Parts: sequence; structure tokens; C-alpha cells
Amino acid sequence: MNIGVIGAGSISDMHLQAYEKQEGVKLYAICDLKEQRAKDKAKQYDIEHVYTDYRELLANPDIEAVSICTWNNTHAEISIAALRAGKHVLVEKPLCRSVEEARLIQEAVTETGKLLQVGFVRRYDANAQLVKRFIDKGELGEVYYAKASCIRRLGNPGGWFADTERSGGGPLIDIGVHVIDLCWYMMGRPKPVSVSGNTYHKLGNRSNVQHLSFYKAADYDANFNTVEDMANALIRFENGASLLVDVSFTLHAKKDEITVKLYGDKGGVELEPELVFIAEANDTILNITPQTDHKSINVPEAFRREISHFVACCQSGDTPISPVEDGLEMMKMLCGIYESAAKGQEIRL
Ligand SMILES: NC(=O)c1ccc[n+]([C@@H]2O[C@H](COP(=O)([O-])OP(=O)(O)OC[C@H]3O[C@@H](n4cnc5c(N)ncnc54)[C@H](O)[C@@H]3O)[C@@H](O)[C@H]2O)c1
Repeated sequence: MNIGVIGAGSISDMHLQAYEKQEGVKLYAICDLKEQRAKDKAKQYDIEHVYTDYRELLANPDIEAVSICTWNNTHAEISIAALRAGKHVLVEKPLCRSVEEARLIQEAVTETGKLLQVGFVRRYDANAQLVKRFIDKGELGEVYYAKASCIRRLGNPGGWFADTERSGGGPLIDIGVHVIDLCWYMMGRPKPVSVSGNTYHKLGNRSNVQHLSFYKAADYDANFNTVEDMANALIRFENGASLLVDVSFTLHAKKDEITVKLYGDKGGVELEPELVFIAEANDTILNITPQTDHKSINVPEAFRREISHFVACCQSGDTPISPVEDGLEMMKMLCGIYESAAKGQEIRL
């Protein structure tokens, strides 16, 4: 299977390394607006064809599937063009920037019959799949509450991430999407019915801070920032379950923090910061630690599993475990939270 990778920035390495390890797959083409960036990756990963215009890559009939690793504002346009060009698509999270864009992508999937997998990489981690098995077997009973945090005390990556027009938003759409999705997937993807959210633009990007380093986009510009510093939200589901989340690019917090916790009527589980199940037996509360290679997500391995699943689905015709429908539902929740924050009231979805 010949693969094209569109977008040769930071995250493309995770895709490229995973495809490299995948049997029956050839890294065939790479594209980036910045030619040198694409050329460097082509050299590093031994890729024959280099493009600066994704339309030219898509016109190559030898390419069967593409990974889209570009800015969020291009996901809809490139996904739709790729599907119409007869390619299967793995698109990075978030699916796009709005519910309208998500619906157009979904229509293109239906119209073309091609496969689209959303890059909700956390679902593919081995620990996440282990927990899903326990939940599906009823070990936690009914999961009625989930709580997630993804707090960076200093970590606005700047560049396109800090430009609402290109990103669709700040920490909520960039890192909140991961933990909201993981909880929602574990809860059995209940239908969201309402959201209540707050966003804050209080601290800016804090480019003045010294002595602490953080990830910066390739095109970092400290003078430009239009995204929120932090967001929090309560999501209510049709089955009565609820999800509470807070995320930040910067906050006066003591340290960075990631937590993903699910609570059922028979037991609970924490996926982050460390995998642990909580149960009750013989009138005793038990914290049970599964013996696994990693206590929390193993990112390169999760990408390897995500891409292995994508390739397998392309070959079998099976629907991926993170299909376009889930990308659409996620956009309803994220955009609902932004709308709720702007209006200062709860939004019915
Ligand atoms: N799954 C994850 O954990 C994860 C982590 C980081 C980023 N991402 C997602 O991956 C995507 C890319 O993020 P990144 O960190 O690699 O950003 P980046 O800025 O490092 O790279 C993006 C690249 O896309 C290129 N590009 C933009 N528009 C293009 C177009 N129309 N045609 C060709 N190239 C184009 C840019 O020139 C740039 O090189 C985003 O959607 C982001 O949300 C996912």
C-alpha cells in the first residue's frame, strides 16, 4: 500500500515512524507548503515523491491512502479532496474546526465509500484498550461520571496553534479533545445533550517567562495569540452520565497535570496519571494496579497501533474504531463549549 503524508511538521514524525515499521506499506509521497521541510523528511524516511501542493499529491493514482498532519483549518478541505480522489484518509485530531465542516467531511465519506479514521490516538494506546475491555465486560458497572484535566502551567505552542483562524481554538480543541474523547469513548459514546463551558483569556502566552522551556511550533511568534489560556466544561449525556473537564495552555498551577478518571456503580478507573482500578470486595475498598509495560500512555506505541489499525481497516474494509461520526460528535461538544462560553449559558446540542 502506497502512503502519502500531507504536512511534514512535528507530528508527521510519529506517522512516518509508524508507517516505516508497518509491513506491506511503502512511504511513497510527502507534501508540505515548505518545500525544504518536505525534502528533509523525504531524505530522512527515503520517500521518492515530494510535493508542495497537496492536490498534486492526490492526483497521483499510485497513492492509496494519506495521513493528514496539517493545521486544523485545512483538515476539512484536504480530507474531502483526498476522499474524492479515491484515497483512504487518516486525519489528525481535531477532525476540523466546526460542526459544519465535520458534516461536509461525513458527506464525502458516505459519497465516496472511502474510509476515514480520526487520529484520536489515545484510544489506541494499549492501556486504553485494556480498560475498554474491562468496561465492556461490565467490571465498572454503569459508568456515570468522568473527570479529566490536561493542565499546562506554561505551554502555548504559538504559531498556528495560537491563531484561532487556523486552529479553531486553544487548549480545548488542541489538548482537551484528547481527554474528552478518551472519557467519551470509555463511557460507550453516549449522546451528548448539553454543555456548559467557560473560556479565559487572562494570562496571554506568557512569552516573558524565563527558566522554563516548553514546546514551540516551528513558526513560533510571541507577538501573536488569539486563543484562550484555559477552558473548563461540564458535558451532560442522554443516559444521565456527565463529564467534567478542564484544560490549559497556561495557568498559575504548581505543575503540569493530566488526569483521566472514570467512575461506575461497581468500580472506577484512573487511566492517567497512572493506570489503577478501584473496586470493592468483602467490605473493603481495593486499589488494583494492573501489571503493564507502561503506567500511562506510551505515545510512539499508541501511534504505531493507530496506524496499524488504519492500514488493517484499509485492507479489510472494516470501519475504524475512531470513525468520522465520532469526529463529528466531538466537534458538536467542542464547538458547543465555545458557544456556551461566549454566551455565558448552557447550550443544548
Ligand atoms: N495526535 C496528537 O497527539 C497530535 C499532537 C500534535 C499535533 N497533532 C495534530 O497534528 C496536526 C499538525 O500539528 P503539528 O504539531 O505537526 O504542527 P506543525 O506546525 O509542526 O506542522 C504542520 C505542517 O503542516 C504544513 N501545512 C499546513 N497547511 C498545509 C497545506 N495546505 N498543505 C501542505 N502542508 C501544509 C505546515 O507547513 C507545517 O509544516 C494538527 O492538526 C494537530 O492538532 C496531533
